[in-house]
Amino acid sequence: MLKLAVFVSGRGSNLAAIVAKIKSGYLSAKVCMVVSNKKECKAFEICIDEKIPTYVVDTNDSYEDLIEILDNENIELIVLAGFLKKIPINLIQRFKNKIINIHPALLPALGGKGMYGLNVHNAVLKSSSKVSGATIHFVDEIYDNGKIIEQREVDISDVKTAEEIAAKVLKVEHELLPDVIKKFAENKIKY
Ligand code: GRF
Repeated sequence: MLKLAVFVSGRGSNLAAIVAKIKSGYLSAKVCMVVSNKKECKAFEICIDEKIPTYVVDTNDSYEDLIEILDNENIELIVLAGFLKKIPINLIQRFKNKIINIHPALLPALGGKGMYGLNVHNAVLKSSSKVSGATIHFVDEIYDNGKIIEQREVDISDVKTAEEIAAKVLKVEHELLPDVIKKFAENKIKY
C-alpha cells in the first residue's frame, strides 16, 4: 500500500477523488496525512470525515519539522493537489522523484507563476485552442517545470467560458491523478 501525503490549499476535489478510488479498491494506497498552507480550507472537511491527520505548514519556515514528520510516517509519494505555494529545495531534495503535481492544462504551455485557477483556463480560452487537458509532472525548483509523467486531453471546441473549460478539465483530473498514483503504487513510473 503506497503511503501518500497530499498537499492542498483549497477545495480538495482531487483529494476526494483519490480517497474515493482507494475506498473502491481501485487504488492500493493510503492518504497518511494532508498538508495545507491554510488553517482553514474545504479539503480539511474531507479529512475530518475520513479521519486523515492534517498539518498546517508555515511556508515562511524551512519545512524541516514537516520533513521530519513525513519521514516518520514513511511517506513514499507527495501529491500536490492544488497546493499553491512553492516547495522549498530541502523538501524537493529529500523526496527526489517522489513529489508530483497536477496542473490543469497541457504543459509546457500555460504553466509557471500565476498560472493557477481560472487564470489558466482564461489563457486557454484566449489562445483559441480546441484542446486542453491535465498534466501530472514531477516537481522541481521551478513552478510547473519538472518532467512530465502523463497528460490527458479534453476537447474544448464547443466551450465558451473559462468556467466550462475548468469543469471539463477537472473531470479528467479526477481520473488522471488516481491513475498515475496507481502506476507509482505498481512501480510502473520510470524516471
Ligand atoms: C486543480 O484544478 C488542480 O489541477 C490545480 O488546482 C486545482 C485544485 O482543485 N493544481 P481541488 O482543490 O483538487 O478541487
